[in-house]
Amino acid sequence: MSAENPGGMQLRFPRLWNWLSLTGLVTVAASVFAAGLLFLIDTFGQASNPYVGILTYLIAPMFTLLGVALVVLGMVLRRREVRLRGEPIPLVIDLSRPRDRRLLGYFVGGSALFLVVTAVGSYHSYHFTESTTFCGQACHTVMEPEMVTYQHSPHARVACVQCHIGPGAEWFVKAKLSGLYQVYATLTDRFPRPVPTPIANLRPAQDTCEQCHWPERFSGNLVRYYRHFLSDATNTEYSVTLMLRVGGGAAHRGPVEGIHWHTSKDHKVEYYAADPLRLKIPWVRLTEKDGTVVEYRSPDFTNEVNQADVRTMDCIDCHNRPAHIYEKPNDAVDRAIARGLIDPGLLSVRSNATYIVTQPYTSREEARAKIAAHLETSYPGDERVPAAIAAVQGIYERNFFPQMKANWRVYPEHIGHKDWPGCVRCHDDKHQSSDGQRVIGFQDCNQCHVLLAQGTGDDLTQLSAGGQDFKHPLEDWDPEFACHDCHTGGP
Ligand code: HEC
Ligand code: HEC
Ligand code: HEC
Ligand code: HEC
Ligand code: HEC
Ligand code: HEC
Repeated sequence: MSAENPGGMQLRFPRLWNWLSLTGLVTVAASVFAAGLLFLIDTFGQASNPYVGILTYLIAPMFTLLGVALVVLGMVLRRREVRLRGEPIPLVIDLSRPRDRRLLGYFVGGSALFLVVTAVGSYHSYHFTESTTFCGQACHTVMEPEMVTYQHSPHARVACVQCHIGPGAEWFVKAKLSGLYQVYATLTDRFPRPVPTPIANLRPAQDTCEQCHWPERFSGNLVRYYRHFLSDATNTEYSVTLMLRVGGGAAHRGPVEGIHWHTSKDHKVEYYAADPLRLKIPWVRLTEKDGTVVEYRSPDFTNEVNQADVRTMDCIDCHNRPAHIYEKPNDAVDRAIARGLIDPGLLSVRSNATYIVTQPYTSREEARAKIAAHLETSYPGDERVPAAIAAVQGIYERNFFPQMKANWRVYPEHIGHKDWPGCVRCHDDKHQSSDGQRVIGFQDCNQCHVLLAQGTGDDLTQLSAGGQDFKHPLEDWDPEFACHDCHTGGP
């Protein structure tokens, strides 16, 4: 066999025939193969995820470049060799020589193994980027608040991507682009603290929440017991039991009424929010099944509404914190007292605990130390104090994230109306249709819930199925004020 012409053929790129360049070529092939594979898994996978973009468009191309560099390096070395020796020494593979057979065998075998490893590796890295570990922990500081609050939520077993991306290819590209930007922002420390809410273009809830929660199934009432304690010396209980009229979402299951009426498929509720947090809603539009359209406005709002800013109400407009729940300090302390973690026999412990947990701290260690010191000096030598300290420190750690400036204050919650405007963003008795015939009401409390019991001690056992009038613990309480004018969730 001729040396210039292995295999008897004329070589097109004689300089390419060297081991280094060939290894480079295999690397290029493997990385293109891996990128293609990742792209396919991601397109046809159950739920795509943004960070696969890092693998597909960042890591794989880096290997392609490495491969190209090897090819070029091999060729350059080869040219130098040619120049030094004056004549090319081509790569001769003579299969009749055992050494060549062995080398070629190693090369082919090695390349095949490399491709298999690449395929398995990319498949595993794909699953890794989809995992909750990656989403919640890879960028540890940034996502810590979301991760910790999620782990304490009823959705702790639902993967981040199921709510944030959902199935299908359409959201895949969108998520991919923003995912890449997020990685860039994290690496360059350009992310906002706290992470802003709401998410401007979160996928509509029909495609995410409704994978598991089937609106047609919603029905009936739900009884909730809200246990509270007053900030007086004896930490007097003041609790409320409500029957929430959650209601149903499908006509064939009974009348579509109650709280879940808003997201029934029979009609559409849309609104315009005047602020980024969606706390001010001056304009609402209801389109009924028969096509009737009702527009409700706040009295002081006369502007034209740009239709591009109108949002269709979905689950997230009430359940905006299903997974990242920042407990309000008042509620968290109340819960700890109710569960016996904090002994209500300690004088003013409710107000002491909410005070100390809401002080500004720069680190978790500082918070732990100051919480302990404050409670120890308030109740010197009391054997019930260590348990109370542990409970209050726990509340801090689950709900306050000083590095990211994240806590309940910056993440409004839209369910209810006590500490945030919530339902009262629309239900304030002031949003009226243009003919004044229809109002989105508040004063008829029974529209949303029936108050079964309230107060303390024996009062709480006096259930009234027909509902009681609300008795506020303050003597001079004025129902003209909205609850959230006074209540903020903190002391
Ligand atoms: C049950 C569904 C669900 C799951 C599971 C979930 N999230 Fe969320 N997430 C939401 C909703 C709803 C919002 C608020 C959206 C809004 O108001 O626009 C949100 C908001 C966020 C925000 C914006 C900041 C904020 O708190 O409003 C980040 C960041 C985030 N999620 C990350 C994650 C990460 C990381 C995971 C997994 C550890 C995860 N999410 C799991 C539903 C979910
Ligand atoms: C992968 C399935 C899944 C998805 C997606 C999902 N959920 Fe859930 N959700 C559950 C399960 C399971 C529970 C019951 C948890 C329990 O009782 O421990 C639940 C519970 C709830 C509850 C009751 C919580 C409570 O305090 O008892 C609400 C409200 C809720 N989900 C809203 C949502 C919203 C809003 C979304 C979309 C942002 C969503 N879920 C997405 C599975 C899911
Ligand atoms: C108008 C506000 C509003 C909208 C819109 C809304 N919900 Fe609810 N939902 C509530 C309230 C209020 C409750 C009562 C429980 C509570 O206060 O946490 C509730 C209860 C629930 C529960 C718990 C029921 C139980 O038996 O424990 C689930 C699950 C739920 N909603 C899912 C959804 C899903 C999914 C959507 C979107 C299709 C949705 N909700 C839309 C206000 C709303
Ligand atoms: C538009 C519906 C709606 C109307 C009208 C309404 N509420 Fe509520 N209210 C809710 C919902 C929803 C919750 C439950 C919030 C939650 O689960 O966190 C709630 C919770 C409460 C609670 C318990 C809060 C807590 O954390 O202890 C009280 C007390 C209450 N409402 C009183 C009233 C009174 C008094 C009126 C009438 C003046 C009224 N509500 C009118 C929807 C409504
Ligand atoms: C974006 C505005 C908006 C928000 C926010 C809102 N609602 Fe409504 N709600 C409406 C409109 C509009 C109607 C229909 C009023 C009418 O009958 O003219 C309505 C009607 C209702 C009804 C009566 C449904 C029926 O059976 O006919 C209930 C109950 C209700 N809302 C509960 C709630 C609760 C609870 C919340 C908070 C968790 C809430 N709403 C938040 C706009 C809103
Ligand atoms: C004028 C201010 C003001 C308004 C308005 C107001 N509250 Fe209160 N509320 C208070 C004060 C002050 C306390 C006593 C707090 C304490 O002792 O820690 C209190 C206590 C409570 C408690 C028992 C303890 C607790 O912290 O939860 C409930 C429940 C309550 N209010 C519900 C409501 C509801 C529901 C509304 C609206 C319908 C409302 N309040 C409106 C000032 C107000």
